[in-house]
Amino acid sequence: MRRSACEDGTNRLMRAWNRAKLLWFFLTGRERVPALPVEYIVETTAKCNLYCPMCPREMHKQPKEDMSDEIFERLVSESQGAAEHMMLIGLGEPFMDRKIFDRIEYCERHGVATLLSTNGTFLDEKTAARLLDSPLKHITLSFDGASKETFERYRKGARFEKVRDNFVRFAKMKHERGAKIQIVAQMVRMPGNAHEVDAFRSFWGSVPGIDQVRVKEDETNLVQPETRKVAGKMRRCHYLWRGAMYVKHDGRVYPCCQSYGLDGPPAGDLREKPLGEIFNSDEMQRLRRLHAKGRGAEVDMCARCSTPIPHPALAAVSLLVNGNWVRSALPVVERLIRTRKLPRRLLSPERPGLVQIRQPEPRTTQRDASFD
Ligand SMILES: C[S@@+](CC[C@H](N)C(=O)[O-])C[C@H]1O[C@@H](n2cnc3c(N)ncnc32)[C@H](O)[C@@H]1O
Ligand code: SF4
Repeated sequence: MRRSACEDGTNRLMRAWNRAKLLWFFLTGRERVPALPVEYIVETTAKCNLYCPMCPREMHKQPKEDMSDEIFERLVSESQGAAEHMMLIGLGEPFMDRKIFDRIEYCERHGVATLLSTNGTFLDEKTAARLLDSPLKHITLSFDGASKETFERYRKGARFEKVRDNFVRFAKMKHERGAKIQIVAQMVRMPGNAHEVDAFRSFWGSVPGIDQVRVKEDETNLVQPETRKVAGKMRRCHYLWRGAMYVKHDGRVYPCCQSYGLDGPPAGDLREKPLGEIFNSDEMQRLRRLHAKGRGAEVDMCARCSTPIPHPALAAVSLLVNGNWVRSALPVVERLIRTRKLPRRLLSPERPGLVQIRQPEPRTTQRDASFD
């Protein structure tokens, strides 16, 4: 059933008020926040058919399970009036969840925009057409290399030609239909594929239907050893106030996208407590208290986290505008910073307290990119 204009208007007002509260409590560094996150990472399935060496799945064995309807529906209903968008991803491949299309529709009916990231192995013509008919707003196509050799090393279990053709066909279908879905071709930059960044950009940048090409930094320490740790004063991490919180398939809720992979404790469990209580659990308040004082580095997972923490001004902007807009703007901001059109410190804080704990792996220099 479609939502009425009146319901949409009320939801928009509630979300704007929720965001205003988040902004105020973030800027004033409060540990208790009478609001809810705008963004959620929702692991609708923990199943995957690939073995990517840089993926946190490699360190944290996952069961072959999907999220139950009960947990999923509870999350959507309890986050209403706050949730702007849900990233239906986690440590799994979304197209291995048989209910993924129902879940996209369910979010849409509740006024929540959805995002997916896929390894592309299941994106045949039929699935592509179904996806373009769905209300999905944004999709990331994960493709970690520009040559067969590199791609198949990092996307272990996938075939270069098949995934490339699936992604190109999907993007072209979108282009021909004039569909609105935003498509981002993404590569995670690692020592073994860094030399292929230019080839990656030039290939995917010329495929009709691709809206953005994103080169994301490696956020785990699985293929390159952990070399640095923050030891001194650390920037306040806005994720603890605005989200995204990470909801595991079994209902455990983690404070942010990185905490599960870095072995941080959950903030709570949706099977036991309402979302509002989890967002203000003792653990969430402890994290906010330390971060507000610049002492985030005293938390082991925060000291080891490699996700860039934006400058407070940029974090504040991300709370002023709709979460969907933030999601679309992120790759553009990253690129402007990389090409030095925006100051580097906006995303990468100068961390005087960074300590070297190991020598980094030397970067490869071979050039063998090909997209034939
Ligand atoms: C864990 S995957 C799950 C979704 C899907 N299976 C896929 O591969 O796109 C979610 C996102 O994390 C990204 N990712 C995986 N390992 C990463 C790493 N070490 N650093 C940064 N992002 C990573 C993937 O590229 C993908 O966009
Ligand atoms: S396809 Fe996605 S979830 Fe599966 S191992 Fe690779 S990055 Fe992880």
